Amino acid sequence: MPAPARGAGLSPRPGTGELSAGLPPAATEAGPTQAGAIQPGRSSPPVASEAPLSVEGLTVWVAGREILHDVTFSLEAGSLTGLIGSNGAGKTTLLRAILGFQGVSAGRVRLARPVGYVPQKVVLDPDLPVRARDLVELGFDGHRLGLPWRGRPRRGQVEALLSMVEATGLADARVGALSGGEQQKVLIAHALARQPRLLLLDEPMANLDLRATREVAALLARIAKDQGVAVLLSTHDMNPLLSVMDKVVYLAGGRAASGTTDEVVQSDVLSRLYGHHVCVVRIHGRLLVSALDEHGEEGCDVVAEGDSYREARP
Ligand SMILES: Nc1ncnc2c1ncn2[C@@H]1O[C@H](COP(=O)(O)OP(=O)(O)O)[C@@H](O)[C@H]1O
Ligand SMILES: [Mg+2]
Repeated sequence: MPAPARGAGLSPRPGTGELSAGLPPAATEAGPTQAGAIQPGRSSPPVASEAPLSVEGLTVWVAGREILHDVTFSLEAGSLTGLIGSNGAGKTTLLRAILGFQGVSAGRVRLARPVGYVPQKVVLDPDLPVRARDLVELGFDGHRLGLPWRGRPRRGQVEALLSMVEATGLADARVGALSGGEQQKVLIAHALARQPRLLLLDEPMANLDLRATREVAALLARIAKDQGVAVLLSTHDMNPLLSVMDKVVYLAGGRAASGTTDEVVQSDVLSRLYGHHVCVVRIHGRLLVSALDEHGEEGCDVVAEGDSYREARP
């Protein structure tokens, strides 16, 4: 029997940053990136000792199906966490639930504001007459479009953000004409405009080549450390993040396991999560998670065959 979401979304409890199931939806205008805006160069508010993001027992139903069940994890300031899961695992649903865009059936989200967000599949048309610096500027006052240009201070802040993402030379380029990796950098600068304490990115490395993927991963790790922001990014391929991420939240079968990569990405942990036997093997520094067929209930040994490998089956 499906347990439909109580209410259409989540609303913040004033002053606490707490979101609870069952309250009226937060309107887009009151979204997390708007509240408590701080501009680069100003001092940040005192950082609360509590986690920038805490998710407890989150259960989400979509279209009569349970997509997430009892998901619990928290993030630390200054850390990079990979939200790992195959396509359809529920990564976008979880991020949307955290942001209050998706109703939940049970559980609680507590988050520190401001929140920065880079959604999945942002399409920037090549003919869009918007420069990189314009898009970053929208991060400051996109919700107040129409206000006059403020002059040099704002320009300096925009350029500081572009420098932070190593995109200074792209300031005057049309965003639609940039490569995928360059667009991601500009979108990250846009999301950083309000000095978020929590930065959520949905598949920021999708469709990037290997070099751009590594650049974006390293950039986000550096931003997490330098700015003290908690970064949570979703991806279906954890390998480009192995050297830079502090923690993983691994989604499978609607459930989540969280911890360090070594703690979570193990055959027994993931087999419990998937509800069937999976093997985790490390090959050439890459982690591969593979489901065994009905004959492969035991063993995850890897047998080397020259330069190639195959799993040992009983
Ligand atoms: N609006 C929707 N209506 C019906 N099913 C949905 C909707 N949004 C998501 N889903 C389903 O929820 C599951 C998780 O989707 P999603 O969160 O987008 O996964 P991921 O981001 O990990 O690829 C998928 O099976 C998807 O088909
Ligand atoms: Mg997704």
